[in-house]
Amino acid sequence: MRISCMFLASSLSIAVFLLLIPGDFCVEIIGGNQVTPHSRPYMVLLKGKNVCAGALVAKDWVLTAAHCVLNKNSQVILGAHSITKRESEKQIMYIKKEFPYPCFDPHTHEGDLKLLQLNKKAKINKNVRILPLPKKGDDVKPETTCQVAGWGSIRNNSPQSDTLREVNITIINRRICNDEKHYNYNPVIGLNMICAGSLKGGKDSCNGDSGSPLICEGIFRGITAFGLPGKCGDPRGPGIYTLLSQKHLNWTIATMKGFV
Ligand SMILES: *[C@@H]1O[C@H](CO)[C@@H](O)[C@H](O)[C@H]1NC(C)=O
Ligand SMILES: *[C@@H]1O[C@H](CO)[C@@H](O)[C@H](O)[C@H]1NC(C)=O
Repeated sequence: MRISCMFLASSLSIAVFLLLIPGDFCVEIIGGNQVTPHSRPYMVLLKGKNVCAGALVAKDWVLTAAHCVLNKNSQVILGAHSITKRESEKQIMYIKKEFPYPCFDPHTHEGDLKLLQLNKKAKINKNVRILPLPKKGDDVKPETTCQVAGWGSIRNNSPQSDTLREVNITIINRRICNDEKHYNYNPVIGLNMICAGSLKGGKDSCNGDSGSPLICEGIFRGITAFGLPGKCGDPRGPGIYTLLSQKHLNWTIATMKGFV
């Protein structure tokens, strides 16, 4: 997972990994750029035990990853660019109730999504906006260019970025993502997940980006879920996102309406 559950890699696999990476690989492992401050007004900063992100999907609802560990003291910050700086655009709120997807399985990573009901409604303005849910839970075709933003690490094992960054990634065919050069079905990258990054590596989400929305051709399609532990940007382990499939979308809409 992108914030915890790091498995200790053997020194051998670390050595192999270092041999495989090109020289400039360590400069900026996820290969993104800082965004213009407040240009992604739907981005929500979640400060719990670790940093996570989410998307504002209604004035008092945030969609994030189920594996993000949060509690009543966690801050939900809208309108943020910097994690640490005082910013007049920020709206700080707290969680009234968490609604993890009931079928979330931390072992298979199936259903890694969660709704947060906030203790108050956001004031919508140019710095704080709602990201609409997709109309249908469609799949995304391989090769499609998508964007993911977050306050996650820019290198493996480095602290998170203080400011919001974004990277362009492309959707990778599930067949490739599951093959022996990639996840090798451990875990299975199924129809309710999408695999995205770069087949060459170097473009990826990382620790701290969990819960961030994956946006493809302007449409909210996924939620940052996991990758190969400790190996962000490694071509063998592209980022895996929870797809806003019809089943996930139905649950999200029903939960916000109070039907669940
Ligand atoms: C990301 O993709 C968009 C459009 O798909 C393009 O306009 C933009 O220049 C790309 N950014 C980077 C950093 O590659
Ligand atoms: C989602 O909800 C629609 C309308 O309520 C229903 O027709 C459809 O079968 C549901 N799909 C899934 C996958 O749950």
